[in-house]
Amino acid sequence: MKVSVFSAHKFEQSYLEEAVHNHQLRLIETRLTTNTAGLAEGCDAVSVFVSDDASAPVLEKLSRLGVKYLALRSAGFNHVDLQKAEELGIKVARVPEYSPAAIAEHTVALMLALNRKLPRAHHRIRDLNFSLDGLVGFDMEGKTVGIVGTGKIGSKVAAILHGFGCHILAYDPYVNESLVKKYGVKYIDFEELCQSSHIISFHLPLSPASRYMVNKESIKKMKKGVMLVNTSRGALVNTVDVIEGLKNGQIGAMGMDVYEEEEDLFFEDHSEDILQDDVIARLLTFQNVLITSHQAFLTKEALEKIAEVTAFNLDCWDKNKPCPNELNV
Ligand code: NAI
Repeated sequence: MKVSVFSAHKFEQSYLEEAVHNHQLRLIETRLTTNTAGLAEGCDAVSVFVSDDASAPVLEKLSRLGVKYLALRSAGFNHVDLQKAEELGIKVARVPEYSPAAIAEHTVALMLALNRKLPRAHHRIRDLNFSLDGLVGFDMEGKTVGIVGTGKIGSKVAAILHGFGCHILAYDPYVNESLVKKYGVKYIDFEELCQSSHIISFHLPLSPASRYMVNKESIKKMKKGVMLVNTSRGALVNTVDVIEGLKNGQIGAMGMDVYEEEEDLFFEDHSEDILQDDVIARLLTFQNVLITSHQAFLTKEALEKIAEVTAFNLDCWDKNKPCPNELNV
């Protein structure tokens, strides 16, 4: 098959070329949008990343070009209009799991870096300022961490933090008994988790139920000086409310690998541009905010798995075999 790979970042190109043997790849660095969909002309399949737009108008355009398959290089699919894909007869498959450890480890890296103020210490020392004032952290041991969503990633975060000697609270409609037995995880409701946790970490999908679950009201219920870490999806958090919480000290630190308006910023070099997003501009002024550009998944192992499963999904379609990773409405 001929496959147009949109948002083919430099960091993943060699992994894709190595894994996908049976198909002809057209690596396109630009994002898929209504304006760029035409670049897929002559291709049977299109492969997209989380920052690509696979909404109805884009899918209609791809369908008119003869595209029949959409191979997602992600687990999340909230950027795809599955209903429209089904109407148009476009099959969609994803990479359901690549490396939960990669995301869990990055989450804990954000917690430690914020707690022990590593970015600040690093910048200071480069300026030959070896003073320690303003760098006081806290022991993780004995602290209470609330994990919202204890699926594949949340469970790994629980395992790591158990090793640090943290008490772990969880909120998830599905109780994972093995976490209760192995790590003493205590399942409670979200309000109680907010009230009792020194750190709260989010590992659940974005849905109408979870959208803006961190908002003015829930922030008010949290412990003063709470640390929040979001490596899931930006819109779990109302960023404007978080800024207010940071300004009045209710939130003591914020780690984010995702941002609700990330599509126009993340994954690209904007160092020559004038920043137009006033919300992220304000976030960047806080010493106790640490932002990474949706890089929690970015390990060698995860990239290998994403490329291998993408190749597998394309092979299934090419050979007319059932694809276990296909998404249905
Ligand atoms: P998973 O499906 O294994 O686990 C999600 C858990 O969230 C499930 O246990 C589910 O019961 C729970 N959940 C669903 N709705 C909930 C709600 N309203 N309240 C509380 N819990 C709820 O998913 P996995 O693999 O652990 O991924 C979690 C999230 O991590 C993904 O949805 C995605 O948004 C994000 N992610 C981020 C990446 C990054 O690079 N930053 C990479 C991959 C995933």
